[in-house]
Amino acid sequence: MSVKEFDVLIVGGGLSGLRAGLELSKKWKVALVSKVVPIRSHSGAAQGGINAALGNHPEGKEDTPEKHAFDTIKGSDYLADQDVVMFMTKEAPKIVVEFESMGAPFSRFENGKIAQRPFGGAGSPRTCYAADRTGHALLHTLYEQCIRQGVDFYDEFFLIDLISVYNTVTGALTLDLTTGELVTFRTPYVILATGGFGRIFTASTNAIICTGDGVGAAFRVGVPMQDCEFIQFHPTCLYGSGILMSEGARGEGGLLFNNKKERFMLKIAPEAKELAPRDIIARAITTEINEGRGFEDAYVHLDLTHLGAERIKERLPGIRDIAIDFAGVDSIEKPIPVHAGHHYSMGGIGTKFDGDYCETSLDGLWAVGENAAVSVHGANRLGGNSLLETAVFGRYIGRKMLERGLPSRPSLDKIIAAEKATLDNIEGLFKRWESNSGKKAVEIREAMGETLSRNVFVFRKESELQQAVNDMKNFQKDFENVSLTNISSPAARKFNYGLVRTLELRNMIDIAEVTAFASLWRKESRGAHYRTDYPTRKDEDYLVHSMVIRNNSGDLEMHTKPVKLGIFEPKPREY
Ligand code: FUM
Repeated sequence: MSVKEFDVLIVGGGLSGLRAGLELSKKWKVALVSKVVPIRSHSGAAQGGINAALGNHPEGKEDTPEKHAFDTIKGSDYLADQDVVMFMTKEAPKIVVEFESMGAPFSRFENGKIAQRPFGGAGSPRTCYAADRTGHALLHTLYEQCIRQGVDFYDEFFLIDLISVYNTVTGALTLDLTTGELVTFRTPYVILATGGFGRIFTASTNAIICTGDGVGAAFRVGVPMQDCEFIQFHPTCLYGSGILMSEGARGEGGLLFNNKKERFMLKIAPEAKELAPRDIIARAITTEINEGRGFEDAYVHLDLTHLGAERIKERLPGIRDIAIDFAGVDSIEKPIPVHAGHHYSMGGIGTKFDGDYCETSLDGLWAVGENAAVSVHGANRLGGNSLLETAVFGRYIGRKMLERGLPSRPSLDKIIAAEKATLDNIEGLFKRWESNSGKKAVEIREAMGETLSRNVFVFRKESELQQAVNDMKNFQKDFENVSLTNISSPAARKFNYGLVRTLELRNMIDIAEVTAFASLWRKESRGAHYRTDYPTRKDEDYLVHSMVIRNNSGDLEMHTKPVKLGIFEPKPREY
């Protein structure tokens, strides 16, 4: 095993990790490890845009960061921490201008200013975009900047475990997928930026790499998981494949119809209509289908035909191509078949109540982007706020760490002992997997995805959630006996995707269990968490963040953390 020393280790090559790396590499030696080549990170799949109160749109000239904050907090069903949201929305115009100065190819209005479009739950058109490939454009822009500045990239490295001494992180153990070698990174700071964990569901808009690797590693060293019951179901996923059909389509004027040719959103959200927040539209679409007003009992129509060929080709070329390739539908001529599907995880690695934003309870460990619960999205994220969160808090972490300086560390002999213990543990696990005779990871993963997709979906209730919790315990037992052959030597581990899938499942199964457990615990409806048996919000009992840990007996345990309220008082959400 080799050991590499850095001032900071960033895990994840998406926008959060890259933006932190860009800042930190101005002064420090930075390693960025990524499971895939960074430009294949899931940030590249974000389509519709990034929110900032620039006031460039003719109907949004009066927009302000405060209005953006209000929309975000109302959208979150008042569970977002208001100080963090205010910070993010104030930084937003600066971060978009920074992207522009780095050369990001934003779409433009005729006057040359960055174009903005309306998005769900927003009082003003404030979503800046690059056609419907915004994440792709921003990812390439930041990657180029990181290369220019000399960030040390370790592509195709898989995070296995964090290493810590008492309550201080001292590094991480990784697997170099290209050689099969185990590699330790020794460092006083680790930033987890590994993205979401949507692949715990059978179908998701998430890339197959979104398996909660950072989330799982943090949970195993005792960091609580926060707000994991809040899973975002995107209203418009393409029927047949589940691929995202951007909210930008409705921002450009796309309409939703049921099989009676009714625009059902008119009665659900009379003002916002097709631009209500995602949780509301996802429930509306699912209800239309469940009550027999869908097509083939499976989808509704997203109609863009009235927008005209020119506008579709200019502003929505990506989803047009996808709908043609994966559903045989040209959106210029026909409506697109869509349904709600898993899209985003509002929850993730818990952050400290009284620390700097993104700091966790393990000293030196920070988390940012979708794998973190910072918490700017609360119970429901607004579209266009995820790209924003990544860049704002990536930059923030970089600045904060440089301001604080490098921390003092545990003694070297303790660090080395912890590294050895971590290595011995994984070698022991590999041996056990080889000698086991139980199921393969893929079998457990499929069963787990089906359970979650059936019982922890758009509409939830006690009996189904209890079933999911019970099933998860059984999947954990199955995983203890998971079997995998041919992993004893580095040569056998080289590009061994059986091993990668098993290591991924080790993380997924924990976060899936936490998701089911927290969903059963929250006996109210708030944002994306809708309980048919508890259909109202109950601020008196549940205006708190859920924080789940695994106790010493191996059971999940629920704790809570106060929500940071502020100038926006919790009110009923009407759109
Ligand atoms: O619909 C979309 O384009 C997705 C955007 C987002 O999740 O922020």
